[in-house]
Amino acid sequence: MKTVAIVGSQWGDEGKGKVIDYLATQADVVVRGQGGNNAGHTLVVDGKKYALHLIPSGVLNPETINVIGNGIVFDPKGFLEELAKLNADNIDTKNIKISDRAHVIFPYHKELDALAEEARGDNKIGTTKKGIGPCYMDKTERSGIRICDLMDKDIFAKKLKAQIDAKNKIVKNIYGAEEFDFDAIYNEYLGYAEQIRSYVDDTSVVVYEAIKAGKKVLFEGAQGTLLDLDLGTYPFVTSSHPTSGGFSVGAGVGPNMIKDVVGIVKSYTTRVGEGPFVTELNDETGDKIRTQGREFGTTTGRARRCGWFDAVIVRYAARVNGLTSISLMLLDVLTGFDTVKICTSYKMGDKVLREFPASLEDLAKCEPIYEELEGWSEDLTGMETYEELPENAKKYIAKIEELVGVNVDMVSVGPNRAQTIVRKNIF
Ligand code: GDP
Ligand code: IMO
Ligand code: MG
Repeated sequence: MKTVAIVGSQWGDEGKGKVIDYLATQADVVVRGQGGNNAGHTLVVDGKKYALHLIPSGVLNPETINVIGNGIVFDPKGFLEELAKLNADNIDTKNIKISDRAHVIFPYHKELDALAEEARGDNKIGTTKKGIGPCYMDKTERSGIRICDLMDKDIFAKKLKAQIDAKNKIVKNIYGAEEFDFDAIYNEYLGYAEQIRSYVDDTSVVVYEAIKAGKKVLFEGAQGTLLDLDLGTYPFVTSSHPTSGGFSVGAGVGPNMIKDVVGIVKSYTTRVGEGPFVTELNDETGDKIRTQGREFGTTTGRARRCGWFDAVIVRYAARVNGLTSISLMLLDVLTGFDTVKICTSYKMGDKVLREFPASLEDLAKCEPIYEELEGWSEDLTGMETYEELPENAKKYIAKIEELVGVNVDMVSVGPNRAQTIVRKNIF
């Protein structure tokens, strides 16, 4: 079986898009199984940059089928805008398939996302305001509207009417905000329905048959392990399961159909939005990482919070995802530091923690215990083999492997597809 799941091992933005794009040239199918257009995956090919949010990162390879699975929350407007941008760049998008079971994001989801954030005040999550949480809330509440509903104008009218009535009670009575107009949303979405109809399919069958036929299938994670609803820094998380287990439900395949799990790991740590971050650097070092790594969000443009590598987190990710391999990303960004630090464990009062705690109150008390390594000054961005890397960069990689217990099979030294060093082939 040639199936590989690609998962974010920290708080997202680890470089998943780049790895998927790199591997997509060899993959027959790329599948997204969770999240929505809160994701921002950047691909750079021959110096040209593409930002993808909902469309899988295999789209630049015309042969690859790109599946938007049943676990996705689907914003048709966002999707069509992304499609138009790709088409303007002469990218062929006919190989996209959208699950008929995916849930649809409506304007009231986005509005409720923003209103809930405002109401949280100082306790805000820092969401992307794309309506992700409210759409998943409707799904778990069992009142959501799915793509298959949108495909039938009568069923859609009935379900949308009930939803608009319910949501108007909330916006009016709880938030004192403006009510939604059924006709406007209904007509807008009927237009979208016709534009997406040819892409809609039973994608679980598409993925299953590809796997059965021995095709190479990549599962593209969005967000990251620490943003997982169950396993992340709850409540500062997203509303889906970005861990490897999420693919089974979100793509509609048995867990035994996913063979390898590659953890995408940034060479340091970043986070957008609120919530605890033990190795965060609110100083010149953090600013230097942000500048060298161009750490500004692909979806919201927000400055990302930056800090040293946290092996507690990545070890945790290795365990909960069952990582079989690591792709270490953005190693070039760490050039020019006299020393580089790796957090090996946390100090909480007089206790030393090796495992990531559940309680955010405990996490807030944790101080990083660092191991300091010598840095390197060489520019890595033109290096093509592992052997060329400076000795201190190799020691840094070896230390990560030792602390996490998983091999670093791929090293990324620049945003371009070509700036990728492969130590062991993933497929
Ligand atoms: P994703 O959400 O995991 O796909 O990651 P993002 O695309 O949001 O953020 C990763 C950023 O790092 C993007 O701007 C990429 O172009 C960039 N990037 C990826 N790999 C490398 C690398 O090895 N070096 C550098 N300098 N940038 C990289
Ligand atoms: P990719 O796929 C980084 C964060 C938000 C916020 C929290 C909840 O590009 O790695 P949401 O809008 O999902 O309800 O926001 O999750 N977040 C991400 N952070 N990368 C992402 O995706 C993210 N998607 C959501 O910033 O803290
Ligand atoms: Mg991103």
